Amino acid sequence: MNINIYKTKEELSDKLSDYVINNHLNSSIAISGGSTPLLLFKSLSTKLSSSKNLDTKFYWVDERCVPPDSEESNYKMARENLFVNNIFNSQNIYRIKGEKDPFEEVINYNKILRDNLTLDKNIPSFDLIILGLGDDGHTASLFPHEFKNLRNKEECLVATHPSSGQKRISLSEKIINNAKEVIFHVTGAGKKYVIDEIINNRGNYKSYPASYINPKSNNLSWYLDFEASEMLTK
Ligand code: 6PG
Repeated sequence: MNINIYKTKEELSDKLSDYVINNHLNSSIAISGGSTPLLLFKSLSTKLSSSKNLDTKFYWVDERCVPPDSEESNYKMARENLFVNNIFNSQNIYRIKGEKDPFEEVINYNKILRDNLTLDKNIPSFDLIILGLGDDGHTASLFPHEFKNLRNKEECLVATHPSSGQKRISLSEKIINNAKEVIFHVTGAGKKYVIDEIINNRGNYKSYPASYINPKSNNLSWYLDFEASEMLTK
C-alpha cells in the first residue's frame, strides 16, 4: 500500500492529475463523484486543454439515480469539468443512466462493463479505479448499513443512501478488487479518523466497506492532503 501525502488538496490534485496523465491516458478508468474529484477534473482538463479525442475510457464508480442534468449527478460534474472541449473521445465515456429504472440500468451497466473491459478470471478488470471515502467508511455507494452488498457477486449493484434513501448504482467490491490499480483520493480533516482506522486496522474498521478494498493486484494507493492524513503522521 502506497500512501502519498501533499500539503494541500490543490497540490494533491495537481500531482494526481500528473500521475493519471503520465500513466493512464490509454486506460479504462472508473471515476467517483461527490466533491473531492472536482479539483482533479479541473486539473486534468486544464493540463490536457490542447488535446483532442484522447482514447481514455471513462466509467463511473457510482451514480445517483437522478437525471444527467441534476445538480446531484456525478456525470454532470464530470461533463462540466473534465469532459470539456472534446479533450476525450465521447464514444469512450460510459455513463451510468441515472434517469433509468435502477434495476434495469444495473443490468445494462453490467453488460457495458463485460462487453468493453478486459476480463481477468472472467471478471471485468479496470486499469484504474479512483475512489472517494465517506467519513462513515463508505466508498463508491457501498454503505455500512448495507453490509450485505459486499458479498454481491455482480459487477455493479443497486444501493440506497443511508440518510436520503436515494437509490444509487455502484460498482461492487468484487469488481473493484479485480482492478489492476485502485487509488483512494481523500481530502479534509473530516476523514482523518476513518482513514487512520482503515489503514491501521483499528477502531471500527471492520464495519467500514472501504476496509474491504484490497485489490488482488496489491496495487492500492492513497492520495491524501495533510488534513486527511493528520492521524497517520502523529
Ligand atoms: C458519490 C461518491 C461517494 C464519494 C464519497 C466522498 O457518489 O458521492 O462516489 O462515494 O466518493 O461520499 O464524497 P466527498 O468527495 O464529497 O467527500
